[in-house]
Amino acid sequence: MIYYFSGTGNSYKVAAQLAQSTSTKLADMSSVAVDVPVCDDAVVGFVLPVYAWGLPVFVEQFVKSLPRGVRHKYVYAVLTCGDDMGYADVLLRKALRRVGWQLDAVYVVQMRNTYVCLPGFDVDSPDVQQRKDRAFGQRMTHVATCVANRAPFDEREVLRGAWPWLKSYVLRPLFNKLLISDRRFSVDASVCSQCGACVRRCPLGNMRMGADGLPQWHAGKCTHCLRCYHICPHHAISYGKFTRGKGQVKINL
Ligand SMILES: Cc1cc2nc3c(=O)[nH]c(=O)nc-3n(C[C@H](O)[C@H](O)[C@H](O)COP(=O)(O)O)c2cc1C
Repeated sequence: MIYYFSGTGNSYKVAAQLAQSTSTKLADMSSVAVDVPVCDDAVVGFVLPVYAWGLPVFVEQFVKSLPRGVRHKYVYAVLTCGDDMGYADVLLRKALRRVGWQLDAVYVVQMRNTYVCLPGFDVDSPDVQQRKDRAFGQRMTHVATCVANRAPFDEREVLRGAWPWLKSYVLRPLFNKLLISDRRFSVDASVCSQCGACVRRCPLGNMRMGADGLPQWHAGKCTHCLRCYHICPHHAISYGKFTRGKGQVKINL
């Protein structure tokens, strides 16, 4: 079984490719019933994006609700990120350990960046995107081979970047406290066509259409995946002033 969470499709692409090459079933964490018992001898994969050098808050909650103390032959994770992951793997290992699961290996795949909500952060330039796209196939072949061979954890398979401790243990809590919220999302009524794509496709059901026909947030479940921002065909959604002039990525799921 491969459990995946994906805001804009990068992690889904990885999960779908791995599922095909390892003949494994896929389960979307945002729609799966987690109390389904997981077979004792199974190989289990987790595929998810890195958020603020850690895990999406929703994934932390998902892991907490896994059945406790189930033993598996091999548990691995593939983390997708735009640049680097800090100690995201260590945070995942600890979260799994709390429910009695052991994480055997972690792999990182660098993909297009989707984070645009702070000054200095934007989607990748065409040449950076091309470089990442070119490296993707080879990286996935390598990850699939490692998973098939149940390779153990290898530090060379992760991408910590500079100052990983500072990023994962100091900046991350601040980021989660101050920025993981839907309070700053808004829609430009003069541009929104009221198509409802953002509402329908929010993976956590955190949005609805208001009586004025415009999307509303504030259901308290936002994990900041930014699907609503990137999916809008008219670029009508913004996150405070931070997304002014920023790009969008195509949703691939
Ligand atoms: C809220 C948020 C935080 C992010 N934080 C990081 C980060 O700490 N490091 C990084 O390299 N990329 C970061 N990214 C980029 C994503 O990890 C990357 O684009 C990922 O592949 C997106 O996967 P998805 O399309 O499955 O959602 C962040 C993206 C979002 C939306």
